[in-house]
Amino acid sequence: MTIERIDTDVLIIGSGGAGLRAAIAATEAGVKVLVVAKEELKDAHTGWAMGGINVAIKAPATPEMHFQDTINGGWYINNYKLARIFAEEMPDRVRDLERYGVQFDRLPDGTYFTWAGGKQSAPLNLCAGDYTGREMMRGLLLEVHRLNIPFLENHYVAKLIKQDDRVVGALVIDNTTGVYKVVQAGAVIVATGGGGNMYRINTNAPSNTGEGYAWGLDVGAVLVDMELVQFHPTGMAYPPEKRGTLVTEKVRGNGGILKNKLGERFMQRYQPQRLELAGRDEVTRAIYQEIQEGRGTEHGGVYLDVTHWEEGKAEKIVPDVFAEHMEVGIDIRKQMMEITPSMHHMMGGYDITEWGETNVAGLFACGEVTRSVHGANRLGGNSIAEGQVFGRRAGLRASEYVTYGNRPQISQDIIDESVEDVETFLKRQSGIKTTEILIRIKDVMWHDVGIIRDAEKLQRAQREIIGLKQEANSLYAQNIHELQSCLEIRDMLKVAEGIILAALERTESRGAHYRSDYPQMDPAWEKNIHLYKGNDGKLVTETVEPVKE
Ligand code: FUM
Repeated sequence: MTIERIDTDVLIIGSGGAGLRAAIAATEAGVKVLVVAKEELKDAHTGWAMGGINVAIKAPATPEMHFQDTINGGWYINNYKLARIFAEEMPDRVRDLERYGVQFDRLPDGTYFTWAGGKQSAPLNLCAGDYTGREMMRGLLLEVHRLNIPFLENHYVAKLIKQDDRVVGALVIDNTTGVYKVVQAGAVIVATGGGGNMYRINTNAPSNTGEGYAWGLDVGAVLVDMELVQFHPTGMAYPPEKRGTLVTEKVRGNGGILKNKLGERFMQRYQPQRLELAGRDEVTRAIYQEIQEGRGTEHGGVYLDVTHWEEGKAEKIVPDVFAEHMEVGIDIRKQMMEITPSMHHMMGGYDITEWGETNVAGLFACGEVTRSVHGANRLGGNSIAEGQVFGRRAGLRASEYVTYGNRPQISQDIIDESVEDVETFLKRQSGIKTTEILIRIKDVMWHDVGIIRDAEKLQRAQREIIGLKQEANSLYAQNIHELQSCLEIRDMLKVAEGIILAALERTESRGAHYRSDYPQMDPAWEKNIHLYKGNDGKLVTETVEPVKE
């Protein structure tokens, strides 16, 4: 078998907003960069972001307010240090994006158009229609191409390679030709995004399968607060093939009203002050309760109403939501949308310093795959924003690391071992199909590790996932695409196990983590939960004080 060897200074895995921003920063710092993405660069999940990017760039919003809103939204277990840096640096990162060619919406007087999302005390969302992520990716890619940054798209990372306690590269498979490539790097930045596809109903791009978290656990990295999984209140409820598709918060941020099947504006009962613009965790649970108590719609959702908007507003403010519904015969100017909560974002992830360093030498991380700044519930608009701040920082620090460090050669033995492990799926002639296991993971996570949790559900999920891990030992692949799925599912199961373990550990309700057996937020639990692999290879959790300064 031929195995191609590639050498670079900084390997960046993932081509979303955070990964590309890291690539730009590292290239500008003068080191050699390679971006590896399992999809085409333009198809990264960032491109699916709709409503906006949070930044205190227009009065009355200030960075201090942005910081406070982020902390309040996150129910006080955010990393305060990271959150402060984030709010303060965002205006500069938006100016960078504009320099790359991104165009944000402006009012006729030339000032930015900004809007306030849930739990924002002043408008923070800067946007481009409801396709902000797409526009951002357009600009970032222009800059990536202008700087001639090398990339391998449609290449799947099978695993990170660790040698002498340091991450030194990755085993990569070209998922068009099946050729194995070993990328040897002075530093590796994981920017693989979240794992929405672990859940049956989700808003995520197909590439968000969560393997970045599993690689971290495998090489000894510490993850934080993996139990904190955000459900966006408004995904499309109907038709079935679009169930879960994001209906941006921008709709509610511009006067969209939630109603149950009786026509009641039910948020008046749950959150009389903030109504539809309460926290995502609060709105999601209100919708869930309405549906559970029989006040939901025919297709298992509730209504989101913009029929009162003035002529032309729907097409102008949310053109993608408008078109998505028109495609299935729903004219949102005249008919109410049917929406349902949809898994959207993972607040937990790699424990990083403010420079994107993990606890493992040579390994950096940025974007959704990190623990980041969001605490127990992320504000809409803070995700694609945070990737810009910490993507840049990870790129800069990784460049310094390779500039002043040595570069070990990856040993042939380690390469052979890694390839052999991957090849087992192809060598097996029969066994269990990936699709079978995937459906079961999605169902377990949706039903038992979802919006409302309790010990019984979580323990059942734990048993099920451990059982599926056993079954996954006989996964087999007949071609290179199935091989990718085998690897993704093996990793997904590790991540699911970690989420469940941490969710069992947190015996309180906070933000997106709601336990009906512990329905109150407990001040004693103003803590983070570390998750890592112990010496015996089993996952362990550890409760730690949050970083408050
Ligand atoms: O609703 C939205 O447009 C989503 C934004 C976000 O999650 O940041």
